[in-house]
Amino acid sequence: MGKRTQWASSVGFLLATAGAAIGLGNLWKFPYLMGENGGFMFLIAYLVFILILGLPVMIAEMAIGRKTQKSPVAAYRKLGGKKAAVIGVMGVLTAGLILSYYSVIGGWILKYIVSYATTFAAPANFNQYTAQVGEPILWHMVFMLVTIVICYIGTRGIEKVSKVMMPALFILLVVLIVRSVTLDNAGKGLAFIFVPGAGGSFSFQSVTAALGQVFYSLSLAMGITLTYGSYLKKDENIPANCAKVAGLDTMAAVMAGVAIFPAVFSFGLEPTEGPALIFETLPKVFSQIFGGSVFALLFFILMFFAAVTSSIALLECVVSFTMDNFHWERKKATVILGIVIALIGIPSSLSFGVMKDIKIVGYNFYQFVGMITDNLLLPLGGLLMCIFIGWVWGPSVLVEEIEQEGVVFKLKKAWIWCIRLVTPVLIAVVSIGGLISVYNVVTGS
Ligand code: TRP
Repeated sequence: MGKRTQWASSVGFLLATAGAAIGLGNLWKFPYLMGENGGFMFLIAYLVFILILGLPVMIAEMAIGRKTQKSPVAAYRKLGGKKAAVIGVMGVLTAGLILSYYSVIGGWILKYIVSYATTFAAPANFNQYTAQVGEPILWHMVFMLVTIVICYIGTRGIEKVSKVMMPALFILLVVLIVRSVTLDNAGKGLAFIFVPGAGGSFSFQSVTAALGQVFYSLSLAMGITLTYGSYLKKDENIPANCAKVAGLDTMAAVMAGVAIFPAVFSFGLEPTEGPALIFETLPKVFSQIFGGSVFALLFFILMFFAAVTSSIALLECVVSFTMDNFHWERKKATVILGIVIALIGIPSSLSFGVMKDIKIVGYNFYQFVGMITDNLLLPLGGLLMCIFIGWVWGPSVLVEEIEQEGVVFKLKKAWIWCIRLVTPVLIAVVSIGGLISVYNVVTGS
């Protein structure tokens, strides 16, 4: 076996990891979840969970990758036998499911790019557009095709692209924020984000949503952080790098919120619009900016890049699994799995139209997949991981891995406490609570 590839530079690693983490979850999902779940309260829950759940799990996952020098399933098998390998398999499954609808949203973005490029305006009516059968599915297929092609060729180019695109995305977010907060009545939107009590309803389900979103946004419990860790040099400081990635990721999400909510309130729109938020509200902001359609075009192109850097990583999770475990060839794996996942995405796309009212336990197909991945599989994966590391394998092995070549893990005691106790207990409590509320919805009590 050849030597395992390593990241060329610390910055390259940081940008690649941040590139996989920053995606639709930050720019699209976080703002709308915040809108639906009481603004400020959701933000606080999210920040707390990033610190005591997200960061510790991320550090653990990255350390496992570097320690075992393997891809997820093999890594867990190496450290905990067949039973532990289930954690890896669950992650692969989650990645595939997420990608199936991620690509549907990616298709909407492509449609918006084409629309702005040709008519200098967004599609006339977002809800009408997504309710159609043919066109959204077509663009979903195009998005998946792009993902497949890049994954097929290899991802080296993407690293170069993200080095330009990620900073550009941040700069554009700043431009949007400036425009958004200078609109009339923008203060209400800022209050919604930063003042307690100004937002709408925050329920127990909101806590579950915040927890799921932390795992989702940081790309945890899916093996991608583990895989990236396996390419990391031994003298790199894992906790410090994780803190940077989590910081950038959170910053992107909060910035998206600050760009969107002042505008939502300024136009008298509802913050609780859900998935439509970024596709309906932002175009209204753009129409207020001089040369707005150019900004809009740029913004959706950058959105597209943020989405693609994540979607290829999601496909990579599944592809590398079949390569390592079933000895599939990369090309075959990419094409077959890409097509299968695209097909699974079709009912998600239809959930915004003809299949809207076809419910599985109270959710339509798109919502059901989201619920299964964010509220069930991701937290469960994180929980099992903590139990294995904290109690079966012992955290000291990973501390040893982290503290090499002069690296000092300052918060090691706090981290061990988190991994052994705080994190798993919190995940269990919130997840069980989430299950009970799902059960109540189903039984109608
Ligand atoms: N974090 C990504 C986002 O916010 C989504 C995601 C979840 C992801 N798990 C992943 C991306 C694994 C790449 C790999 O959009």
